[in-house]
Amino acid sequence: MDVTITVNGTERKLELDPRVTLLDALRHELGLTGTKKGCDHGQCGACTILVNGRRINSCLALAASHDGDEITTIEGLGTPENMHPLQTAFVTHDGYQCGYCTPGQIMSAEAMLREAAEGWPSYVSKTLDADPTLTDEEIAERMSGNLCRCSAYPRIREAIAAVRD
Ligand code: FES
Repeated sequence: MDVTITVNGTERKLELDPRVTLLDALRHELGLTGTKKGCDHGQCGACTILVNGRRINSCLALAASHDGDEITTIEGLGTPENMHPLQTAFVTHDGYQCGYCTPGQIMSAEAMLREAAEGWPSYVSKTLDADPTLTDEEIAERMSGNLCRCSAYPRIREAIAAVRD
């Protein structure tokens, strides 16, 4: 089937099997391998991307169901010459070890910081403080969908907090 998506600002027309996930379409059809496949069933967050500004696990989404959507991957956030503030902060604060989860961590953090700035969408947990100012505890809670098998969590949180501040 034909699927048209806008990826990092460029419209891409794809002919896909309807069973192809958004993650596989990005990696295999478009060569955007910055988005990682960890668990491939929605548990690790390595495949996090933004769809219309909201974060999703792209391994759980069928590409065909995102026809017409606007997608941002880690490749669309910054470049080695012109890094996004989160990318710079992860380097400065040593917010990674093996680096495999890093793209997903950064995409998730970007979505979280945008949500905090714009006001939390209704699907976000009501158990957390409704105040859009992110505390360190809220960063930890709101990033809990992104796992790091090297356990670099303290430095990941430090990097995000540095951008928040
Ligand atoms: Fe998608 Fe793990 S690869 S959540």
